[in-house]
Amino acid sequence: MTLESVKPEAPEAPQLRNPPLAGGGIPGLGHGWKLARDPLGFLAQLRDHGDIVRLKLGPKTMYAVTTPALTGELALSPDYEIGGPLWESLEGLLGKHGVATANGPTHRRQRRTIQPAFRLDIIPEYGPIMEEEARAFAARWQPGEIIDCTSESFRVAVRIAARCLLRGHYMDERAERLSIALTTVFRGMYRRMVIPAGPLYRLPLPANRKFDRALADLHLLVDEIVAERRASGQKPDDLLTALLEAKDDNGDPITEQEIHDQVVAILTPGSETIASTIMWLLQVLTEHPEHAAKVCAEVESVTGDRTVAFDDVRKLSHTNNVVVEAMRLRPAVWILTRRAVTETELGGYRIPAGADIVYSPYAIQRDPRSYAEHLEFDPDRWLPERSKDLPKYAMRPFSLGNRKCPSDHFSMAQLTLITATVAAKWRFEQVSESSDATRVGITLRPHRLLLKAIPR
Ligand code: HEM
Repeated sequence: MTLESVKPEAPEAPQLRNPPLAGGGIPGLGHGWKLARDPLGFLAQLRDHGDIVRLKLGPKTMYAVTTPALTGELALSPDYEIGGPLWESLEGLLGKHGVATANGPTHRRQRRTIQPAFRLDIIPEYGPIMEEEARAFAARWQPGEIIDCTSESFRVAVRIAARCLLRGHYMDERAERLSIALTTVFRGMYRRMVIPAGPLYRLPLPANRKFDRALADLHLLVDEIVAERRASGQKPDDLLTALLEAKDDNGDPITEQEIHDQVVAILTPGSETIASTIMWLLQVLTEHPEHAAKVCAEVESVTGDRTVAFDDVRKLSHTNNVVVEAMRLRPAVWILTRRAVTETELGGYRIPAGADIVYSPYAIQRDPRSYAEHLEFDPDRWLPERSKDLPKYAMRPFSLGNRKCPSDHFSMAQLTLITATVAAKWRFEQVSESSDATRVGITLRPHRLLLKAIPR
């Protein structure tokens, strides 16, 4: 008898189950049709089928996570990386070498390069630019003018990101071009993502040509920004200088392609998400005049009769709560994906290596199990005494873990400042040609928000 043979047997690993298949699939098509037709409604009802459910998208299986706790576990676990069809199609836009799509050591190195520009203690340095842009945003309109909120929101979002992080001269013309390019590109990317009909998108059709032109202009703009900086010979202490001086793991300068992709990877999420959120904030100020008036009163109580300034932001707690509540109900980033790098376990279920996993901040942030009166716009739910009982991870519009948005403080500061500046000066009415219905794309935003500006 050997020693081996008397060794007690290792306890058997508990048998992991496969997550249940979500109901409502259509034979042959699975859940793809429903997901494409009504993605928000479809993802929100999955919680009734289980904490994790399997979805069939044609021959492919995807896993959907539906509880706040498990989305937190997913985002914090090293067993998953950025990947999946969403990111693969975004790579066509963002490039393969930018921080938003890289994984592993490259991603860690790139985060180290960009992170200092977003540190909490650095944000006040951007204060004067944010202030100037918020004031210019609110000063552009004439009483009674009809505002096209899409182009207005994009303009201010692009200008703030570009002026703060890339310290360039961002005239309206460039912001406009970037906004048009991004709108077309994001719309086209989303279509390509939900209807992956490869060769069809290469046909010389007007829509394809428009998409190709917009994508080319986006990349041209980024090249212009980088070339202009180099030609200036200046090295201001900003994100662009950090990128131009970054070294790879061997200590060599990073490639031109990586610099380009990094600028794209920062400018694109930096403008589309902020612009969409500003549109929703304008919609909220219109739909809820009582909260708009409360924001205005708060601004007055903090500033007296001077214009709101960056330093006031931390005192504007109701305004901040309005921003957070708008982001809860209308999160710009409404869907996130991960890919399992190894076979693993989540919520007691087996997740195979290579599995694509999806979850929706929109569904999580509207879950009636987390939020009383879950569809009500109620900024006071963010008062400390009320928000303390919320389930962990029930509100993470910037995600968490190693892929958390680096720009959470930068974004909240500008969104609060813009909301306060605008609400102190204007009331809004929606005009008959306007549509504030939710338009689902890579981000969520109102379909075509047109508002009449009325001085306060
Ligand atoms: C990543 C949300 C604004 C740059 C992310 C992610 C979310 C997010 C949810 C994580 C994605 C994931 O977990 O897979 C938002 C929201 C914004 C916002 C809601 C505003 C309302 C910005 C701005 C910038 C920015 C202004 C830059 C100027 C980035 C970058 C990443 C990212 C570079 C990739 C990070 C990485 O993968 O390591 N954002 N974002 N975002 N965001 Fe934001």
